[in-house]
Amino acid sequence: MLIRKPSDIRPSEITSETNYLNRRDFMRAGAIAGGGLLAPAALSAVIPEERRARLESVTKSPFSTIETPNSYDDITTYNNFYEFGTGKDDPVVYARDFKPRPWTITVEGHAEKTGTFDFDDFIKPFDLEERIYRLRCVEAWSMVVPWVGISLAAVVKHFRPTSKAKYVAFETLHDPSRMPGQRRRVLDWPYREGLTIAEATNPLSILAVGLYGQVMPNQNGAPIRLVVPWKYGFKSIKSIVSIRFTERRPETSWNMATPREYGFYANVNPKVDHPRWSQARERRIGAGLFANKQPTLMFNGYGEHVAHLYKGLDLRRNY
Ligand code: MTE
Repeated sequence: MLIRKPSDIRPSEITSETNYLNRRDFMRAGAIAGGGLLAPAALSAVIPEERRARLESVTKSPFSTIETPNSYDDITTYNNFYEFGTGKDDPVVYARDFKPRPWTITVEGHAEKTGTFDFDDFIKPFDLEERIYRLRCVEAWSMVVPWVGISLAAVVKHFRPTSKAKYVAFETLHDPSRMPGQRRRVLDWPYREGLTIAEATNPLSILAVGLYGQVMPNQNGAPIRLVVPWKYGFKSIKSIVSIRFTERRPETSWNMATPREYGFYANVNPKVDHPRWSQARERRIGAGLFANKQPTLMFNGYGEHVAHLYKGLDLRRNY
């Protein structure tokens, strides 16, 4: 398994990635964004294919869906990443110059092995797999994404949590100078998420480092983000710098912000509506304005792998 290190990437590739839109184009992109006509600006901010670093030695996972993935443009221009703005087309524009290197990940709490690791060292022991997963957002839209990631179960096992560890807590980078959206208190920063140990060690859970065979675009959570496909998208925390094994259930950003609307579990469930809208159906991004909404599946269609985790739990109360 090998990721091209920054030293393997020609300087021209790096500068082109950060500077390929000249200042005037960027201002125009921002102006269009402000006017609400966002798609053209967002599309023009997408890094062209020849300038994206490819991931090597990626194997295919048997857990992939056979549904057709959304296009690279769909996946990278329609994002939720409040650290770079609250509009769907903000992250592609305002995360464009974000530098996800150098990057360290701190592992702490109830585990035998803890410490702070450089990103490349952190992922080195693990195999890279392509996992094509459905992503169902709590806002009732969905996509299919060909992630490249490492098994979270393998990561958890590697750090040898003790019997006290009942949960895994994750945090995003907190640095308002690099993440301008954090200058506004739209959430209590840093973004926080958590899983039970059983959820984190379920074979479906991954830490994703790329998509479409290429290094993770900034707007999708570079350099590393969680993906738990049976849960609403907000559980899949981006740009992780901290992993902590805890005895108590960790606080999570959306639950802290609006506890009545967003629970800790956040399992996709068409039978339990959000207080302000139905969760029974979803709009597939890219299907066109006139396409019918499709029914949402229990656990986003991953029930055979995860339903046993919630046996006996009242899913209406534990939303
Ligand atoms: N992680 C951080 N740090 N900040 C965020 O705002 N948004 C979440 C999740 N992870 C978010 C985050 C939400 S609401 C969704 S739907 C997914 O990221 C979207 O992932 P995508 O942009 O790759 O589709």
